[in-house]
Amino acid sequence: MHEIRKRHPKGWRFLFVPFKRSRIMSTEQENQVTQTLERLHQAASVSDVEAIRVEALGKQGWISQLMKTLGKMTAEERQTEAPRIQGIRARVADAIEDRKAALEAAELEARLATETLDLTLPAPDAPRGSVHPVSQMMDELAEIFADMGFSVATGPEIEDDWYNFTALNMPESHPARAMHDTFYFPDPAPKGGKMLLRTHTSPVQIRTMMRDGAPLRIIAPGRVYRSDSDATHTPMFHQVEGLVIDKGIHLGHLKWTLETFLKAFFETDDIVLRLRPSYFPFTEPSVEVDVGFAIVDGKRVLGGSGDAPGHAWMELLGSGMVNRRVIEFAGLDPDEWQGFAWGLGVDRLAMLKYGMDDLRAFFDGDARWLQHYGFSGLDQPTLSGGVGAKA
Ligand code: DAH
Repeated sequence: MHEIRKRHPKGWRFLFVPFKRSRIMSTEQENQVTQTLERLHQAASVSDVEAIRVEALGKQGWISQLMKTLGKMTAEERQTEAPRIQGIRARVADAIEDRKAALEAAELEARLATETLDLTLPAPDAPRGSVHPVSQMMDELAEIFADMGFSVATGPEIEDDWYNFTALNMPESHPARAMHDTFYFPDPAPKGGKMLLRTHTSPVQIRTMMRDGAPLRIIAPGRVYRSDSDATHTPMFHQVEGLVIDKGIHLGHLKWTLETFLKAFFETDDIVLRLRPSYFPFTEPSVEVDVGFAIVDGKRVLGGSGDAPGHAWMELLGSGMVNRRVIEFAGLDPDEWQGFAWGLGVDRLAMLKYGMDDLRAFFDGDARWLQHYGFSGLDQPTLSGGVGAKA
């Protein structure tokens, strides 16, 4: 327009041309505004509105292009054109906002209408998992022994025969090795010897002494494996190992510790223990620990001496003073450090405590059995609340 005015400095065209051009343009733009407003009115969704917004106000949108033309105008032209174009932009932008808000509100309404929840309906079935009695027992044992200053140690289930046998004073030719019905792996151990599934939790004694030195008070719960299967034996079962290493430790400490544990575990002070001489390669002397019980109405009731009339003894666990050689194998000086240890069958103890008669059912995964014997996740064993309490 600047050029036109220059080429026709005083003619009628000066007045006419710019007037005509802007008239034509503004009519066109007015039509486009009307069309846009009409399309907005008909837009059925927020995404339709968004498409219209991009067409008009997006980077390449027609209103944005229109805004750019302002830069090329004379100051004079801009004075009339700028408010007009900005007016167009404001009208379209406002209309877009309004339509978007209206559609969003309608979409929310529709969603709320479909997502109503009838709070008077009965609750759906809750998932019915339960805590396996073996897990529960392990937690009970950890709770009781933690109170006596023991910590929980663990070791690998895939062991080598040095930890599982040799360091526990069972050299290769030792007859006790044969008694363990061991599952061996075909490949040799990295440092020589054989790899196997640990046959007891006792190798954790060695690993812990070698790692932490002395003094020590640990229990080591875990899975163990033997090639054996009947109503009271499964190829995998659970043990809890115990180990105390300190100075001046003797059999009296062993007896007091196990007695205190069993009183807490069976929740009765009426516990009578019998230590019966036995043999384990890793303890010297070795004892088996029996507990006295009576049979009342066909059920075993703990308490009293097993020698009393109507009473009997029940074997609970193997135990003894840690053999000097074992302390040596673990890198400690047996003249300085002594200790006692025990090994307890967790599954068997659970059978006793809860009156189950077939060990195999522990590992069948039968939902009815788990429902009956399992515990709720809320049955946390605590000494204050009673370790055997069922919620
Ligand atoms: N490890 C033995 C077993 O599995 C149990 C055992 C007996 C562990 C006496 C001990 C112990 O720590 O002192 O048959």
